[in-house]
Amino acid sequence: MAVFKLIPCLVLFALFSFDVGVAHPGFGFGWGSNGPSIGRTFSSGLFPQFYQFSCPQADEIVMTVLEKAIARNPRMAASLLRLHFHDCFVQGCDASILLDDSATIRSEKNAGPNKNSIKGFEVIDEIKAKLEQVCPQIVSCADILALAARGSTILSGGPSWELPLGRRDSTTASLNGANTNIPAPNSTIQNLLTMFQRKGLNQEDLVSLSGGHTIGVARCTTFKQRLYNQNGNNQPDETLERSYYYGLRSICPPTGGDNNISPLDLASPARFDNTYFKLILWGKGLLTSDQVLLTGNAGNIVELVKAYAEDESLFFEQFAKSMVNMGNIQPLTGISGEIRKNCHVIN
Ligand code: HEM
Ligand SMILES: *[C@@H]1O[C@H](CO)[C@@H](O)[C@H](O)[C@H]1NC(C)=O
Repeated sequence: MAVFKLIPCLVLFALFSFDVGVAHPGFGFGWGSNGPSIGRTFSSGLFPQFYQFSCPQADEIVMTVLEKAIARNPRMAASLLRLHFHDCFVQGCDASILLDDSATIRSEKNAGPNKNSIKGFEVIDEIKAKLEQVCPQIVSCADILALAARGSTILSGGPSWELPLGRRDSTTASLNGANTNIPAPNSTIQNLLTMFQRKGLNQEDLVSLSGGHTIGVARCTTFKQRLYNQNGNNQPDETLERSYYYGLRSICPPTGGDNNISPLDLASPARFDNTYFKLILWGKGLLTSDQVLLTGNAGNIVELVKAYAEDESLFFEQFAKSMVNMGNIQPLTGISGEIRKNCHVIN
């Protein structure tokens, strides 16, 4: 009988004590010694067991929806991975990217890096609707984005990781933040390092997370500059491999065709693997921001690209760690923010 009394008690603990207590890194509770990751994840106030009692089915529900969505459209995995990145880089992983325009919100969806580009909102909506049926107002939209990014990686053949949870949803968005914090495709290596550093991410994070481009596509408009006028001299980017360059020209003409798409990893665009890094070594990175990992000559970035190209499991390991690091950017915890009922609007 004691067990049955304990469970509701733990549920209350999960709902209330954690919610208000997690902001304190030193917050001590029974299982703190269980896993080595707990101490580290606590620095963000997040921890993998957050929904263990309040919504134990959360990940399973996410995966069921993802499996169908990705079977319908394999690109969806890529779109959902990117959605989490664009959320986390703008005022932290707080689902600010999901808010629509309203009287108080200027939606991030209209920012340069997102407009006509970012996708996957309807899959997040489907997940949220199912979760609201089973555990109403428990699972945040920000955590759904993190779970969907991990699930998409797994379902594409990539690594899994223990995912710290407990993010809460913002009541604000930042259109300006989205325009200034998300790196542009024509970034220099210095730009990239600086923008990642501002989010507390290092070289290993930059290189491994760029490996997210092992799946998905980019529009002609994001790489046209490389083909026709890389340095303002009407010449192509000389670091582009020859035959790849001609192939891209046929997809992406000098004028028009802006929405034509090309795979970021032309060898295996729906498979999460390390070919992205091999292609970079061959001069076949699609975006300037991809190719400068080899040509930019900064720190030991080139060594990392080579190491990941040679050893897929090393890449997977670092990608998993770096996804946790990215997912820990400025989360709202405790009594900050809210759990939105509908990811598109504040409560
Ligand atoms: C390092 C700086 C980065 C830059 C400059 C960058 C830039 C871009 C651009 C321009 C696109 C194509 C968008 C379009 O044509 O509409 C794209 C797509 C994509 N990005 Fe990145 N990205 C970066 C980092 C990341 C990171 C950290 C991730 C995730 C870990 C990521 C995941 C993706 C994915 C999966 C796609 C394909 C999306 C789809 O097919 O719908 N990117 N990125
Ligand atoms: C990158 O592209 C933007 C927008 O097209 C342009 O204004 C900017 O000058 C480019 N930056 C570089 C370094 O080429």
